[in-house]
Amino acid sequence: MAADVDKRSSEDRSKTPPRNGHQNREGSPPGPGKASWMSRGFRALLLFAVVPLLAFGIKYYQDAQLLKRHEESLKTLGAEGLFLFSSLDTDHDLYLSPEEFKPIAEKLTGIAPPVEFDEEVIHDPNGETLTLEAKMQPLLLNTMTKSKDGFLGVTHSSLSGLRSWKSPAVPSSTFSASQFRAFLPPKNKGEVGDTWWVIPSELNIFTGYLPNNRYHPPPPKGKEALIHSLLSMFHPRPFIKSRFAPQGTVACIRASNDFYYDIVFRIHAEFQLNDVPDFPFWFTPGQFTGNIILSKDASHVRHFHLYVPTDRSLNVDMEWLYGASESSNMEVDIGYLPQLELQSVSPSTPSFILDQDGNIIDSRDEGGEPIQFVFEEIHWTSEISRQEATRHLEVILYPFKKVSYLPFSDAFERAQAEKKLVHSILLWGALDDQSCSGRTLRETVLESSPVLALLNQSFISSWSLVKELEDMQADEENPVLSKKARLHLEKYSFPVEMMVALPNGTIVHHINANYFLDQTAMKPEEEGATFSFSGGFEDPSTSTYINFLKEGLEKAKEYQIQ
Ligand SMILES: *[C@@H]1O[C@H](CO)[C@@H](O)[C@H](O)[C@H]1NC(C)=O
Ligand SMILES: *[C@@H]1O[C@H](CO)[C@@H](O)[C@H](O)[C@H]1NC(C)=O
Repeated sequence: MAADVDKRSSEDRSKTPPRNGHQNREGSPPGPGKASWMSRGFRALLLFAVVPLLAFGIKYYQDAQLLKRHEESLKTLGAEGLFLFSSLDTDHDLYLSPEEFKPIAEKLTGIAPPVEFDEEVIHDPNGETLTLEAKMQPLLLNTMTKSKDGFLGVTHSSLSGLRSWKSPAVPSSTFSASQFRAFLPPKNKGEVGDTWWVIPSELNIFTGYLPNNRYHPPPPKGKEALIHSLLSMFHPRPFIKSRFAPQGTVACIRASNDFYYDIVFRIHAEFQLNDVPDFPFWFTPGQFTGNIILSKDASHVRHFHLYVPTDRSLNVDMEWLYGASESSNMEVDIGYLPQLELQSVSPSTPSFILDQDGNIIDSRDEGGEPIQFVFEEIHWTSEISRQEATRHLEVILYPFKKVSYLPFSDAFERAQAEKKLVHSILLWGALDDQSCSGRTLRETVLESSPVLALLNQSFISSWSLVKELEDMQADEENPVLSKKARLHLEKYSFPVEMMVALPNGTIVHHINANYFLDQTAMKPEEEGATFSFSGGFEDPSTSTYINFLKEGLEKAKEYQIQ
């Protein structure tokens, strides 16, 4: 538009104001006489000015078109219809491509096109195969907070996906051993303790979060294909890239010898339990973890195990929408899932073997006795503990873990011994799981290097769930710990409270996360400029947190501890 206007002389413009863009475009370009008085420099300047104007004009035009299309779609489909449409329109252009229409086609025809395999994986028909079994015990509904009032106000359709998910979608499945190549380390890694991203995270504070209004996972690419197939055994709609950080899959070499690796992994993925016409219900286990023992050429898998840890009292975060809006109509809850697990039935075995004369013997011959394979014992030449490997994985997922976070009672013991203070975080959901309450905190201040340094120097850190401390408080067998838990809970308010405590449990200072975030809240236009993701320059939230910790140290001095 801007360029069109420039083509017209000022005379033309004053006489016949253009009625619309089309008429304008047909206007005659400036004659040679008009252009001749312009200096070369001026023309260059004009050119520079016109290019961004033109770009701006096109962008403006596109935005306006998109807005118009959006309004039309809303009129045609209504809010809920548009919501479903948008859940398929992954590139948000308000048109559906065949790729975007695929989930609906599959639903209507009942025919799923063949899964596209990663080109890198060569399927060797002579290779070994591995059978995995899936086991599951459904989420205990009575562990959900909303169950306390009998799910009052929760529509039946919201929980339908959760209530009906009682067993694994695919109880048993056979894979070729070579597919597990996806877990092998990249070329530059190979030592015990080395870590890498199998599926890298694409999220950071700048990219924000992935949208909630999706029902069907995007087609997996490359190494994602295996993780997708594995998690599909539990539920048909796994999203192997979770909406929120932490996202992706990481791995660490726990042990090795000349032929084998033992690789420990950790996956942050989630499931979409509802399907059209119900609103989305996101089921996000704290993590999936496990290990694989495989040969260095991925021709043989000795052992495979993948599971959701059950050692915390709550291990699943759930978020569901109850309206056709991306963010406002959202419910959150947490609960306990007793079992979600995949395990290899036996080591991978060849599909057929040759006898002494070179004839094929089918190892799965129905008639005869099954052939017994004998597997050599694996002796590791180099290894670290499972615990240590787990910690390596935590540190690449969460830089804040460069400082250890100890369990509640251990933290007080250590603080006593080292004459330090306890930096304690009490939350409704878990800090290192995907639960929402710890998210903001973790992704900003706790990862910033000045905070890490101060915590490392003067504090013993710990985080706990409200529910865990409530159980601890109720435990009459351990009055000392019960008292410490009580002192903590007295100072707690929803959703997250950060505290500084003396080793004997007295809280000397505390701050609520919501209050803290209000204190450090920034206007949206400032955000990009001043927000620091994991270190580097100081941002307001880092300095506020440093102040909080320093005030804690000062207040502790009044008790003559420091
Ligand atoms: C914590 O302090 C110890 C020694 O004081 C040091 O070796 C270590 O690197 C520090 N860690 C961090 C994350 O600052
Ligand atoms: C902890 O120690 C301080 C200082 O010695 C004391 O003032 C405080 O009362 C103690 N708190 C508890 C809970 O014993």
